[in-house]
Amino acid sequence: MKHEVIEKNVGLLALLMVLAVSIGGLTQIVPLFFQDVTNTPVEGMKPYTALELEGRDIYIREGCVGCHSQMIRPFRAETERYGHYSVAGESVWDHPFLWGSKRTGPDLARVGGRYSDDWHRAHLYNPRNVVPESKMPSYPWLVDQPVDNALTETKMRTLRTLGVPYSDEDIAGARDAVKGRSEMDALVAYLQVLGTAIKNKR
Ligand code: HEC
Repeated sequence: MKHEVIEKNVGLLALLMVLAVSIGGLTQIVPLFFQDVTNTPVEGMKPYTALELEGRDIYIREGCVGCHSQMIRPFRAETERYGHYSVAGESVWDHPFLWGSKRTGPDLARVGGRYSDDWHRAHLYNPRNVVPESKMPSYPWLVDQPVDNALTETKMRTLRTLGVPYSDEDIAGARDAVKGRSEMDALVAYLQVLGTAIKNKR
């Protein structure tokens, strides 16, 4: 029997398993690259400004994604707490995605506009200043460190090759737009724009 041949031959079984899983995976994943729902930006969405983009890179550098997801699932418990669930069109220009999978702290997908800039500054400087029971780390150095603008233009140009609609003007003005700003300014600017393309229904 053919089936018995496969079951008794570990190498062949492993090979056929890999083949089956690959075909299954590809038929699920490949169509997503071509569907409008995953490729079309949400209406009215704007690409990150130079300052927000640098803030995003600081978010990545400081490992915020290790404790915070940016992905609100379509469940009542989540939408009641965080607002409208995340849709694919909101992250078409995010390279790399920061959806995350760990929630030591709350989801941040719609944190934009929830607090004032001053609240974020006080919180990032030392979370205990505003949330006494917080166990989030402090990031006081962000206040003194200026944003490194050496690569801002290059980053935007690279993102443009990936489909982010930056204009020549956006790119030409990028270095000046972040010049003299602190890393705190950049990170707060990034946090304040998160999730604002879809109206926060809280
Ligand atoms: C070790 C885990 C951890 C890391 C790393 C971390 N956080 Fe947090 N964060 C938390 C926890 C826990 C809370 C909830 C308590 C509080 O508000 O401080 C929180 C709360 C927040 C809030 C308030 C969210 C809300 O809806 O109330 C923001 C904004 C935030 N964090 C941003 C950041 C940023 C930006 C970074 C990276 C610079 C970061 N966090 C890194 C654990 C973390």
